[in-house]
Amino acid sequence: MTNHKNSLHWWQRAVVYQIYPRSFKDTNADGIGDLNGVIARLDYLNDGTPNSLGVEAIWLSPFYPSPMVDFGYDIADYCDIDPLFGDLATFDRLVSEAHRRGIKLIIDWVPNHTSDQHRWFVESRSSRDNPKRDWYIWRDPNPDGSLPNNWGSVFGGPAWTFDPGSGQYYLHQFVKEQPELNWRNPELRAAMFETLRFWLKRGVDGFRMDVIGMILKDKELRDNPLNPNANPNLPANDLFGRLQTTYNMDQDEVHSAIREIRAVLDEYDERCGIGELWGELPRWVRYYGELGDELQLPFNFRLMREPWQASAMRRSVDELEAALPSFAWPNYVLGNHDQPRLASRFGGQSQARVAAMLLLTLRGTPTLYYGDELSLENGQIPPEKVQDPQGKNLGHERTRDVTRTPMQWDASPQAGFSQVEPWLPLSADFTSRNVETQSQKPDSLLNLYKKLIWLRGETPALYGGDYLALDIGVADCYVYQRRTATQTRLVALNFSAEERQLELAGSWKILISTHLDRQEKFSTGSFVLRPHEGLILAPEQ
Ligand code: GLC
Repeated sequence: MTNHKNSLHWWQRAVVYQIYPRSFKDTNADGIGDLNGVIARLDYLNDGTPNSLGVEAIWLSPFYPSPMVDFGYDIADYCDIDPLFGDLATFDRLVSEAHRRGIKLIIDWVPNHTSDQHRWFVESRSSRDNPKRDWYIWRDPNPDGSLPNNWGSVFGGPAWTFDPGSGQYYLHQFVKEQPELNWRNPELRAAMFETLRFWLKRGVDGFRMDVIGMILKDKELRDNPLNPNANPNLPANDLFGRLQTTYNMDQDEVHSAIREIRAVLDEYDERCGIGELWGELPRWVRYYGELGDELQLPFNFRLMREPWQASAMRRSVDELEAALPSFAWPNYVLGNHDQPRLASRFGGQSQARVAAMLLLTLRGTPTLYYGDELSLENGQIPPEKVQDPQGKNLGHERTRDVTRTPMQWDASPQAGFSQVEPWLPLSADFTSRNVETQSQKPDSLLNLYKKLIWLRGETPALYGGDYLALDIGVADCYVYQRRTATQTRLVALNFSAEERQLELAGSWKILISTHLDRQEKFSTGSFVLRPHEGLILAPEQ
């Protein structure tokens, strides 16, 4: 492992900030965020000074032309921008404005399925002998008239819909308006590679690849076995949740497709592939490629599934570190557009501060979800306002709308997000929890994020050093060292609501506390962590 910042790749060094464009900033008063809104807020993200967050990469969720049944994850044209968000000229301006500030641009790429409005699917469904028929996955009904197999849709119901016009079923593991592409067809593969090149040529630095582990399915489309650990209270239509993912995900053949995708990225300099992957460690780790020739960053969501416990978090990190081959670079995600808000999941505002320090001090690339730097909590979405297909089909309590509420910029009537009522309701706390208010409050969470990101950026041990968990024998505390040949930093996190006394050999000084109020030195090596406090310490010479 290398310790020198300049010898790391940008995707190792950067903090990635995920923007859900619909919800970030609306500049044309339609209640929906847009690309001009992202441009308008680039200085907030990084203006080169510690007054800004200091992130060095942004990932934009989809902005492509789309009927928006799954809010842009149903793409009708891979090579254009939906007029809701802007146009290609605006996109080009976004690329250059981001690059001017040292911000890399990662875009979402959805290779598993298109919208049913994509011209490929319109052609494909038009007749059984259309040249694009085989670009999607079509099957006859079984001889008894039943569905081709037992697979379910993530959003409820079966994964097959019958097309009366051509007399066959097509596969869709999300909504029926998201037919799945057939990656076994060489022409389809080539067409998809061209969509990557289209954006690579425009200067895009990387892709976040949607459900990439699903693009190849079992050749025979065999039935998936029942999942013995499925939650017995799943709604009756949650067929996906009742089954294991034996034949629809993480098939051996997916890896050769990903190597081809990586080869396309490698036609250009320093482009990065990030994958949305959900499997357990042994399946997950394969996505780096045996020779490091697949994805640079298979997203690691493991911490999001852990309870708020020091021992659980430590175990997750240690298992990950142990599973990684030497060439593989770790990464951590604590929130995204599909999961409940971090602050709601981990217990509240106090936990959110410790979570910020955890995310930004582990070894590997952190991804931060918009609004988590303000510690937004789950939005309150009345049942009649639910927009997300998951919430509509599987029950109001499963709606992902809660995590997609508008960014809270200031205390003005629409939170500085828009001039009109936003597409999802604003959270009631926006008058106090917003960027403007938190910027002015020295000990706010937003200021903690800024300080942590800038400290990380200037500290080789934190952005590039080794990771070593310490056995300190104090309940509810997770303590680890980050170290290069010439620099050591210690991170000590108290996950409990009580004080904890730590004994460490040597003398230390506090560089930063999550409470932002403390800069002591300890010559005795003994110190107290206050409730829900995290510290970064440096050895005192
Ligand atoms: C991924 C996306 C999610 C989307 C689904 C279908 O899981 O993160 O938002 O609904 O894929 O594209």
